Amino acid sequence: MTAKKKPKVYITRKLPDAVETRMRELFDAELNIDDTPRTRDELITAIRSVDVLVPTVTDRIDEALIAQAGPQMKLIASFSNGTDHIDVDAAARQGITVTNTPNVLTEDTADMTVALILAVNRRLTEGSRVLTDHPGDWSGWSPTWMLGRRIWGKRIGIVGMGRIGTAVARRAKAFGLSIHYHNRKRVNPATEEELEATYWDSLDQMLARVDVVSVNCPSTPATFHLLSARRLALMQPTSIIVNTARGDIIDEAAMIQLLRDQRIAGAGLDVYQNEPSVNPKLLKLAKEGRVVLMPHMGSATIEGRIEMGDKVIINIRTFFDGHRPPNRVLP
Ligand code: DGY
Repeated sequence: MTAKKKPKVYITRKLPDAVETRMRELFDAELNIDDTPRTRDELITAIRSVDVLVPTVTDRIDEALIAQAGPQMKLIASFSNGTDHIDVDAAARQGITVTNTPNVLTEDTADMTVALILAVNRRLTEGSRVLTDHPGDWSGWSPTWMLGRRIWGKRIGIVGMGRIGTAVARRAKAFGLSIHYHNRKRVNPATEEELEATYWDSLDQMLARVDVVSVNCPSTPATFHLLSARRLALMQPTSIIVNTARGDIIDEAAMIQLLRDQRIAGAGLDVYQNEPSVNPKLLKLAKEGRVVLMPHMGSATIEGRIEMGDKVIINIRTFFDGHRPPNRVLP
């Protein structure tokens, strides 16, 4: 019996060691050991000869790039949950299957969402900075110093009640927030009952009534600037917005203006419109204290990243065994 030829797999970023070891065993894998971002030309050269591309959210796999793929290129197995960096329609037109890594980063991203809610409302980064950067400014406990906003008893409005939105809702409920959500369709009655969740068909009406807005929907053409200037202006001046989904779902410039005008109270952001660059006005607001910024770390846990790698491997193996990969993304 002749041994089956291993698929040629091109991985664009450094992955956890355990994942790379497994990939080396199973595939003819080209790794990126020093994690130098691949250039467009390198990607083009790769897809002309490999069978599988393993990109991440930092690679732009658009129609023009996909058009350069050789006839042997059959699979884009993304190391990511989101697929907004891939033109899935263009891939389908060219007979290339796309897969992603859902589920395994749900809980970690939900944790980051709650961490940001707490950090903004309880001024965690500000308080910490007093001790690390200006220790002399702390003269001891004071009844009126560094007061934040209570979480318990407030209302959270979740925009996008998929897996991550639902995981956020479970945590928020445990923190005493009442759950409100807007979604393309209502979640099943059992989940609504478990979360004691109120469904808002109108996003506008929900935004005007909640204390915390949590953005948890995917980035698609339909959700681009879903939180537009007009909608953001509906939020209450005491409310905050948290985004662990994608930067382009919020009109960032409009949000910054509302924050500067104190027409919304704060923001906790893990994602930005033009990553990895962050609008300097946001950095200034973060220094002033009403904004907490994280560098896209929602899924950044050791466990999560290994599980994402495992999913990539399963998708590739299943595909080359001639079956439909479990995490196929449909156009
Ligand atoms: C993803 O995989 O889509 C995440 O944004 C990475 O954290």
